[in-house]
Amino acid sequence: MTELTKEQKQRVEELLSKMTLDEKIGQMNQESVSIVGGFDVSFEELIEMMTDGRISKEEFGKIMNTAETDYHEEDIRKGLVGSLMVQDPKIANELQKIAVKESRLGIPLIFGLDVIHGFRSVYPIAIAEAGTFEPELFEKTAAMAARESRAAGVVWHFAPMIDVARDARWGRVSEGPGEDPYLASVFAGAKVRGLQNDHSSAENYVAACLKHFVGYGACEAGRDYNTVSMANHVLYNNYLVPFREAVKEGAQTVMASFNDLNGVPNTVNPFALKKLLKEQYGLQGFVVSDANAIRECVIHGIAEDEKDAGMQAANAGMDMDMGTEIYAKYLKTAVETGRVSVETVNDAVRRILRVKTWLGLFDHPYVTKEAMERYETLPQEHVALSLEAAEKSIVLLKNENELLPLKRDMKISLVGKLAESREEIIGAWAMSWKEKDCVTILEGMQQEFSQVSYFPCGGPADVISEEDIQKAGEYGDVIVAVLGELVSMSGEASSRSDITMPGRQKELLQKLLATGKPVVLVLMNGRPLALQWESEKISAIVEGWHLGIQMGNAIAHVLSGTCAPEGKLASSFPAVTGQCPVYYNHPNTGRPAGKSKFTSRYLDAPFDALYPFGFGLHYTTFEYSRLKVEECEQELHISVSLKNTGKREGTETVQFYMQDIAATLVRPVRELKGFTKVTLQPGEEKTEEYTLAKENMGFWNNEGVYRLEDGIFHIYAGGNSRDTLMQEIEVTFEHVITDRDYD
Ligand code: BGC
Repeated sequence: MTELTKEQKQRVEELLSKMTLDEKIGQMNQESVSIVGGFDVSFEELIEMMTDGRISKEEFGKIMNTAETDYHEEDIRKGLVGSLMVQDPKIANELQKIAVKESRLGIPLIFGLDVIHGFRSVYPIAIAEAGTFEPELFEKTAAMAARESRAAGVVWHFAPMIDVARDARWGRVSEGPGEDPYLASVFAGAKVRGLQNDHSSAENYVAACLKHFVGYGACEAGRDYNTVSMANHVLYNNYLVPFREAVKEGAQTVMASFNDLNGVPNTVNPFALKKLLKEQYGLQGFVVSDANAIRECVIHGIAEDEKDAGMQAANAGMDMDMGTEIYAKYLKTAVETGRVSVETVNDAVRRILRVKTWLGLFDHPYVTKEAMERYETLPQEHVALSLEAAEKSIVLLKNENELLPLKRDMKISLVGKLAESREEIIGAWAMSWKEKDCVTILEGMQQEFSQVSYFPCGGPADVISEEDIQKAGEYGDVIVAVLGELVSMSGEASSRSDITMPGRQKELLQKLLATGKPVVLVLMNGRPLALQWESEKISAIVEGWHLGIQMGNAIAHVLSGTCAPEGKLASSFPAVTGQCPVYYNHPNTGRPAGKSKFTSRYLDAPFDALYPFGFGLHYTTFEYSRLKVEECEQELHISVSLKNTGKREGTETVQFYMQDIAATLVRPVRELKGFTKVTLQPGEEKTEEYTLAKENMGFWNNEGVYRLEDGIFHIYAGGNSRDTLMQEIEVTFEHVITDRDYD
């Protein structure tokens, strides 16, 4: 990322010196666009009424058609608004004009939005794309989203979402890069680079917002917004790692999480915001609260009233208030009465103005006409990139007797309502996609195969059609069943206590099996599912996640073998929900699960994941051999031999793990330390090498101090986190220098 020049910094200081306290507080205020008029209840209540069925979608639509939108024009004119969430370039330009031309100091607005996995060209949800183990691809898709959104006036993405998440019941696992801190860090860095680094034109980059800082992914029992309780060393070694790396990469902004950390909600937590983020990690830009979070501090039980919540948030280092107007209402008095210092306000405003300067908003505040027209039709390279990401994200979970790939001229009965849906391939949080860009699975299959008949049969929330099942059984040589979750079943506020296939889909599968035809299960879902039954009964299972606009083509290409599956799981799949949280990098305990009853196990369920982190099959097979580990001054040189022992070309992700056998704190049974990807022809053999810097072999203790401890380590290599080769090595760390020592 480019630093501000001395002159730019000076300009920020000059501007700051001219601002009144009201104008400064205005910069710290992000307004939400509100819907007003025409009805007696609040907009939020109206949405609730529709959600719980008190009014129908049609009635809601009618009310909204007569309602007016409040864009806070008057406050913008007075310099009392710093940011808004808008995604229409014409509206963005109109509001920006008021800020730039009509407010006293002409400070531009910063328009933000949740662009989590694509703007117009929606690509796979993050948990899926992380499974490509290709950060370069993640960087490219992010850069594409940056260009598309900037052409609509959105210059600030509330992304990447980099909450490490171990509990698949939590609906937001869909938005992040999975359960592993190393993979999450590598992907976090890639996304920041993709969003922020192309400064060849002011139209090519946006500011990233890392979220949610921190620990949100560890909400108890996987229930969204729930309390979080964790040991410090777990926080330091897992949940903080991707944030630390992404701030180092130059991320401009960070969003604080709703949850409490050691009893203090992060919205008002000076340890999280000031000490860690700003002092230790060196965040240059600003921190924004999550939606309404400052107000919720009262309900949380940490603030007496809104005034108190605002004062605590400002003093904790919260620079911008998302959506509550509490700063706008109370911060001035808090400063005048000495409860919040002018320096605190100045620091926040300086950070916000610096990000606006870095974005080039003072020189390029508007969306140009050319930009507005640029994506009326999606460019071919955006379609191609969405397809590549979708294809590479698909994970083959099971393929008994090589049922897949399917022959092009086979008669295929395509089943499942999800197969014909456009909105269900898009995934939670996408807002700016267009129906005309989407390829359904039905369309993709019809393109790829010559004989496809579609029998809806049912879906995640439907009744089962016996007639369709019978016809599907009669027609096809094979049944391809597209089942799983609706988009609304993952994402925010979408936790599930039972993560087996929702609705009557197991019954549907049973009936399809009873037709006697082979069944391929193609899954569409936003979280790992508990697939114990399916893994026993169904011959072939393809994990398709929510892959975005090109999902239909991607699935069809993988089923036909035009493109071989190469994705891996970024998140472990439990056999049954009761195992949650299940994750590969757990500590051993003194009684690891074994045959004896008195070990850490269940009486009625497996201990281990059904499909572990890093897992994914191919249309070929790979054999690992000759793992070698050598110590070379400050590095370990690891090499392993990989042979394609099957009949087709395949691309494998070679994964390198480590275990610190004895340390001053118990360490995980395995920790991912690196990976490479390699494509091999049938019979071809290659040696894959990986260099592990010794400085990366340590861990943080409960005081947040990074420690490198001499001793025995096990190094593992393999195609997933469970099936690996192992080599032992003794390592000493004298003179290794790291930048991770914190007081
Ligand atoms: C979510 C954030 C999101 C924000 C703004 C919140 O409810 O937790 O992830 O960025 O809304 O839409």
